[in-house]
Amino acid sequence: MIDKCIASPPGSAKVVVLGTGGTIAGRAAVQGDNLGYRAGEVGVDELLAGIEVPGVALQAEQVANIDSKDMDAGVWRALALRCAHWLAQDVAGIVVTHGTDTLEETAFFLHSVLAPRRPLVLACAMRPATSLAPDGPQNLRDAIGVAATPGAAGVLAVCAGTIHGAQAVQKVHPYRLDAFSSGDLGPLGVIEEGRVTLAQGWPASPPAAPALLQRIAEQAPWPRVEIVLSHAGAGGRLVDALLRERAQDPAVGVQGLVLAGTGNATLHRDLESAAQRAQAAGVTVVRTTRCPFGRVLASGAEALPEAVDLPPVKARIALMLSLMQAG
Ligand code: SIN
Repeated sequence: MIDKCIASPPGSAKVVVLGTGGTIAGRAAVQGDNLGYRAGEVGVDELLAGIEVPGVALQAEQVANIDSKDMDAGVWRALALRCAHWLAQDVAGIVVTHGTDTLEETAFFLHSVLAPRRPLVLACAMRPATSLAPDGPQNLRDAIGVAATPGAAGVLAVCAGTIHGAQAVQKVHPYRLDAFSSGDLGPLGVIEEGRVTLAQGWPASPPAAPALLQRIAEQAPWPRVEIVLSHAGAGGRLVDALLRERAQDPAVGVQGLVLAGTGNATLHRDLESAAQRAQAAGVTVVRTTRCPFGRVLASGAEALPEAVDLPPVKARIALMLSLMQAG
């Protein structure tokens, strides 16, 4: 872990910037190539070079430098612990530089585990640092501005001048600079030239769960939760294969299953039967919808438990954490 302190006048609000990689830290062999680059190449101190926010003192730390498609429990553990460390200090807020691909998962994970009362802001970019017109420097500056905003709170994501909350944020576009959406309720607000305008209040954090953070730190491996998609022609073979593997080696076997259902979290009948077999075998099963927007409305007639009001990737994290707390 590299630690760099960037000097600034006494009395400034301190913002800690934790680097984890992503396109914001991406480097292409050919300058201006926005596709053929490697994410997670440029160090966080280099990303901060030239970024100054009046009244803000910056401190940088490199926690990881990866393409966020490869995000795993080890990096999440390290990141959660560094965030917890800094949240216990006298800092105005934290910024985490991150790839866009799993940003919503890391945001939801940190929201669930840390429940911060101060701002913890994820910053990202859709173009690498070597782009002819990189979006990372402005996004990073905006994220620092949000992290230093008095009264700001919770796990947030800032991209293309828009502020999203961890609960609602989703990547919805693979190329556009404004790649994120907060669904039906819309984003929390915007930041323009350092000024924050809110359309909604700062998000409420869940109750703090110090015992969960302890488990995050100590437990390995974390409970295994898989996502299975219902679709035309879906069957139960994937679930049955997971059950066979679990029967052979319970230590690495699946403990939870998220079923990404069609529409109102409905399942192909063959997948539903397999999910019932999984439940009978002791696997915790939850349903949700594969629809990107809207919420699942309970009908009360389902054979499997009520659907959760989270997209599949966040439902996976919620189930993993609840299995951890139960275990
Ligand atoms: C990544 O998620 O690390 C690569 C893609 C991106 O940041 O846009």
